[in-house]
Amino acid sequence: MRDGMRDGVAELGAAAALLLAWYDRHARVMPWRTAPAERAAGERPDPYRVWLSEVMLQQTTVAAVRAYFRRFTERWPTVADLAAAEDADVMAEWAGLGYYARARNLLKCARAVVADHGGEFPGSEAGLRTLPGIGPYTAAAVAAIAFDEPAVVVDGNVERVVSRLHAVETPLPASKPALVTLAAALTPAQRPGDFAQAMMDLGATICTPRKPACGICPLWSLCAARAQGIAADLPRKSPKAPKPTRRGIAYVAVRADGAVLLETRAAKGLLGGMLGFPGSDWSQDPAPAPPVPADWTPVPSAVRHTFTHFHLDLTVHLATLPQTAAPAHGTFTPRADFRPGDLPTLMLKVWQAAEPHLP
Ligand code: ADE
Repeated sequence: MRDGMRDGVAELGAAAALLLAWYDRHARVMPWRTAPAERAAGERPDPYRVWLSEVMLQQTTVAAVRAYFRRFTERWPTVADLAAAEDADVMAEWAGLGYYARARNLLKCARAVVADHGGEFPGSEAGLRTLPGIGPYTAAAVAAIAFDEPAVVVDGNVERVVSRLHAVETPLPASKPALVTLAAALTPAQRPGDFAQAMMDLGATICTPRKPACGICPLWSLCAARAQGIAADLPRKSPKAPKPTRRGIAYVAVRADGAVLLETRAAKGLLGGMLGFPGSDWSQDPAPAPPVPADWTPVPSAVRHTFTHFHLDLTVHLATLPQTAAPAHGTFTPRADFRPGDLPTLMLKVWQAAEPHLP
């Protein structure tokens, strides 16, 4: 955190006091969390578990993360275990969470913690920022939650709570810098880790996007948007540019013995390093690129998938190949070893479109 911001950190303002008292009674229980009573008794969260959960929570909901978190921590209980893992095993466990660059960065970060920091996460926001793949949000969240540094943690929940509390009418994303300043002024020097998680819990359970439960909110008396009757309308958001649609062809080849043709995608680019079916480029006008000459037949149902910046419509082409087939790329995986659950979601959809039409 910059010094100017640290000066701005409130001792324990009215909002933080009310919020922490609420959190003491209502903190959600999560497998990576140290409950407020445990923390008060001197227990410290495991930085590895906090970091892992925060990276996963940038992908999806708390509910969806629980199962991934359990599998990861059972298989790799410490950052050293994760650092020593095979890349392909980590990518396969991450399958379904999406945004696979995060999984590659996760491994890079674990390996840097082991190689450069003796297996211990740096205990400050600035130190965490030096690690590969740790951006401003993750550094602040881990510094606050694992190390009780008064870092200013701003995720979507916090943006919503702060914009309502102060009735910020400027739409996102233009309002972001102002929201960070306001969040910094709220962040207390005492219990910053509990405070950060309390803001998130409030945003997830009471100060919800569509129908905030203002009647039971601990910040009711302080909330400017509630007083003006506009809580549900905030934060305002500038309209987003519509996403373009790209098209492509995915090729599902099954050999006479049932083996499936799969390839590991290039490390760089979308779904980098993940397992998938060979395919064309993804563009307005994709060029066919069958991995091997064959009698390719399109299956009736197309696959639609949405990435951060575009929709993708894939046609799935299917072929049965003789045992002697020698494709230009990809490798045949025996059907007994093929686990569709190891595929990223897009490729799982491709398989699900093709499977009913297999011989
Ligand atoms: N979302 C992201 N991180 C979280 C956390 N630590 N607690 C609750 N929700 C979260």
